[in-house]
Amino acid sequence: MRNNPLPRLDASAEMRGELLPHCRLQPGEVWTDKVSGHRVGCLDATDPQAIAKIMDKERAQLAIHDPPYNTAALEQRAIEEFIDWCRMWVSHTYSALADDAALYVWMGADQNKGFQPLPDFLLMMRDHPFQTRSFITMRNQRGYGTQKNWMAVRQELLYYTKGKPAFNVDAEYTDIPKILRGYYKRVNGRMTENMERSRSDTIRAGNVWVDIQQVFYRMEENISGCYAQKPLKCIERIIRASSCPNDLVIDFFRTPAQHCWHPKC
Ligand SMILES: C[S@@+](CC[C@H](N)C(=O)[O-])C[C@H]1O[C@@H](n2cnc3c(N)ncnc32)[C@H](O)[C@@H]1O
Repeated sequence: MRNNPLPRLDASAEMRGELLPHCRLQPGEVWTDKVSGHRVGCLDATDPQAIAKIMDKERAQLAIHDPPYNTAALEQRAIEEFIDWCRMWVSHTYSALADDAALYVWMGADQNKGFQPLPDFLLMMRDHPFQTRSFITMRNQRGYGTQKNWMAVRQELLYYTKGKPAFNVDAEYTDIPKILRGYYKRVNGRMTENMERSRSDTIRAGNVWVDIQQVFYRMEENISGCYAQKPLKCIERIIRASSCPNDLVIDFFRTPAQHCWHPKC
């Protein structure tokens, strides 16, 4: 508790009662930051009117969504009900995106419960007109598990597209130097080795990201009480790869705490 002094707001009625009177945004409201132009709403992602309100007649080039995964930490629903709920916000996302746009969705797989909801979500997405592009795994540095199972260290990130959005491959390069040699190929009559042919000294992230530290209490970006915080580095990578400066980026599941508590917000 020393490093994480606030109780979970959903579990502590007392703390909710104390904090709510100080919350600037009431349900249904949208606030626009006059300096950055960022729009933040206290809205339900499955409500089409709420989505129209925050979109304000614009369409986005990129959506990055981190919905609740139907896990024990939050209210658990029958898997069918959870997927029906996902179907709604995916459909609103499609309408909110420009003709050429990208969608990234974080989704979990509960290894004690038939790996739900990841496979169910993947199948549901086939009913939508999004194109499947990549199934990314981000490896956490620290994990959880027992001595009788493989330590759980993965976070799944699904990449879909609508139309033909640009992809900036420069965003994919990590800081990890290439260390393996030996992929020889004859170029213009001369035998060359992979290091001299490659476009960078560092490796590409590919669709297994091993170079991102997960958020924990000692990280400067950590926000106490925010249990599903994603590292800034992975969000920067997505934004650099799949959007251009001044593009509109939407996030339907932003944790409000990031706006209340983060000193830089
Ligand atoms: C997995 S967390 C997202 C965490 C976020 N990526 C971060 O770094 O803090 C899911 C969030 O979705 C919110 N949420 C749940 N149901 C929602 C709904 N119907 N509409 C919008 N947000 C919802 C939850 O309150 C929670 O903050």
